[in-house]
Amino acid sequence: MSAATLPQSRVPGSRDAPVLRWGIMGPGWIAERFTESIQTNTGQVIAAVGSRSLSRAKAFAETYDVAAAYGSYEELAAAPDIDIVYVCTPHTGHHAAAALAIDAGKHVLIEKPIGLNADQARDIAARAEAAGVFAAEAMWTFFLPKFDVIRQILDAGTLGTITTVVAEYGEHFDRTHRIFSPELAGGPLLDLGTYPLALVTEVLGSPQRLLAVGQPHESGVNAQLSAVMEFDGGAQAVVNTHVHNFTPTAAIVVGSEATLTIEGPFNMPGGFEVRFPDGTRLRHDEPSGGHFEGLHYEAAAVARAIAAGSTQSGQRTLAASIRTLEVADEIRRQLGVVFPGEAGIAASP
Ligand SMILES: NC(=O)c1ccc[n+]([C@@H]2O[C@H](COP(=O)([O-])OP(=O)(O)OC[C@H]3O[C@@H](n4cnc5c(N)ncnc54)[C@H](OP(=O)(O)O)[C@@H]3O)[C@@H](O)[C@H]2O)c1
Repeated sequence: MSAATLPQSRVPGSRDAPVLRWGIMGPGWIAERFTESIQTNTGQVIAAVGSRSLSRAKAFAETYDVAAAYGSYEELAAAPDIDIVYVCTPHTGHHAAAALAIDAGKHVLIEKPIGLNADQARDIAARAEAAGVFAAEAMWTFFLPKFDVIRQILDAGTLGTITTVVAEYGEHFDRTHRIFSPELAGGPLLDLGTYPLALVTEVLGSPQRLLAVGQPHESGVNAQLSAVMEFDGGAQAVVNTHVHNFTPTAAIVVGSEATLTIEGPFNMPGGFEVRFPDGTRLRHDEPSGGHFEGLHYEAAAVARAIAAGSTQSGQRTLAASIRTLEVADEIRRQLGVVFPGEAGIAASP
């Protein structure tokens, strides 16, 4: 039986969130998008920026009217007048940068993936718990209004028993992009594949069985990988990610009662449809958009969570971030992909 209408988003306006003073750690591409989005759409304050170079910190501060600029991550972590550090270095720096901030008593929002592997994610969770500070992965998709509606649909059982999740993410990058750098844990898995893997694990949990195939890129990183997964109860998931070219970035969740098709790119603001076998189609209409339209939701949600005394985000718990990386680790174990500083990935039991 089909539901008559879809639920409404419960995500409050971002401008109404309590105000945090943010410090940017690693002023690169996503730091700029995040700053533009929250300066325009929220009352959050970007109070400081820390770079490995004082001149880059000053340039960022001047562009975005940020009061304090530091020439090291250590100085930013120690800055007395910031509440939270937004870690947005390349993946290889997330763990060390987060540890610096947490150990200095700062809350942290860490770009995805929260660490290179599940061990790093577990260590970040343990440090944050010990320090009593907030920590979350900036998996911004799950903070979007549309995802709140999807969560309600899943929780209500509208789709019935989930049988299948199919999700993919391919993108074209200039050959100079860090995604082609083995030293920065390049390849599609951590930049792009984390989105389909986060969706699959959010909907179905941890797989019981996983089979991965992949091909290398001439740069030395993985170029493409696909993984098929089987879950308790027989559900299956298929994920593909690559650096070859743009794809629709599609995601489909199939249940015994209805099919959810998220319009691509599924990880960004946009609409979706729930289709029932009797022909009924229910639409969630949300203007499609990119980082500018979407990143402010995670910042506002984090500010509300911290004001409420929470040390984790309900939209993206640390356990969920760890679970996603466990799956990524297993894919890499099967493909023989090892990241800098890792001795190797142990076989899963
Ligand atoms: N949420 C999203 O939609 C989204 C989109 C893109 C990227 N991301 C995530 O954000 C993170 C950063 O990505 P990005 O594209 O912004 O990277 P980026 O443009 O390369 O910037 C990263 C910044 O980190 C600093 N950094 C620290 N160690 C570095 C090193 N060894 N090599 C190069 N830079 C280093 C640099 O700033 P200083 O040297 O000045 O400190 C650099 O500007 C990644 O983990 C990625 O997964 C998320």
